[in-house]
Amino acid sequence: MVQLRLPPKSRIQPGKTWPAPEGAEKIVTIKVYRWDPESGANPRLDTFQLDRKLCGAMVLDVLIKIKNEIDTTLAFRRSCREGVCGSCAMNINGKNTLACIKPIADLGDTIAIYPLPHQEVIKDLVVDQTHFFAQYASIRPWLMTLTPPPDRERLQSPAERARLDGLYECILCACCSTACPSYWWNSDRFLGPAVLLQAYRWIADSRDEMTGERLDELEDPFRLYRCHTITNCTDVCPKDLNPAKAIAEIKKLLLARRQ
Ligand code: SF4
Ligand code: SF4
Ligand code: FES
Repeated sequence: MVQLRLPPKSRIQPGKTWPAPEGAEKIVTIKVYRWDPESGANPRLDTFQLDRKLCGAMVLDVLIKIKNEIDTTLAFRRSCREGVCGSCAMNINGKNTLACIKPIADLGDTIAIYPLPHQEVIKDLVVDQTHFFAQYASIRPWLMTLTPPPDRERLQSPAERARLDGLYECILCACCSTACPSYWWNSDRFLGPAVLLQAYRWIADSRDEMTGERLDELEDPFRLYRCHTITNCTDVCPKDLNPAKAIAEIKKLLLARRQ
């Protein structure tokens, strides 16, 4: 019989609750997924009630406040605090996004924070991205040329440069890939929207001279064609990019070269 529930050791248990500080007038309730591999215990959902006035503006500010003032064992990644490094990607009220640019004012009185879905959890909100970045490396994300380098830089016209808009801005946060049902089920072989958008970024670059080889490597029922244009990826991208369109452009190029 098909097992539809999580295995017993993965089921989330109720966790600890930290009540609001005395005198708090407007309370925001933060529910945070916690899992410590060293404890041997099941994951749990901790509840932190905070005075909204003392929280800062963004979800990341709230997590930093919790870590600094309430529970120093809380683990999460962050670096730039301005939506540039991609480290603080997590699932907030059911949607993957960057905690540092997600205003708590947009989220109501209860905010539920989980790690990115379908990733192995290392601890609390920190997931293992080894496979994701190995997939990124597999598309050879650098300029590949055959002709000898010119005396000065390889030039592009303004129109050629403009073809990279909407692609080069990707910060590899993995919000899109971990929101993609095809990636959930086939991430061992499907590259997923983030890596495919990056692949297209090099295919679209007029200076790159290995377009044919790049397309050859993607022409595969799993690496590329597991995308079924569900567009969850585009819906969640916190940088307003469109990975589904980039994937469609790759498919169009593959079709065109067959004709
Ligand atoms: S396309 Fe958007 S969601 Fe996907 S990795 Fe890049 S920035 Fe993140
Ligand atoms: S459009 Fe493709 S890559 Fe994006 S969520 Fe859907 S199946 Fe995944
Ligand atoms: S901390 Fe860098 S993107 Fe959020």
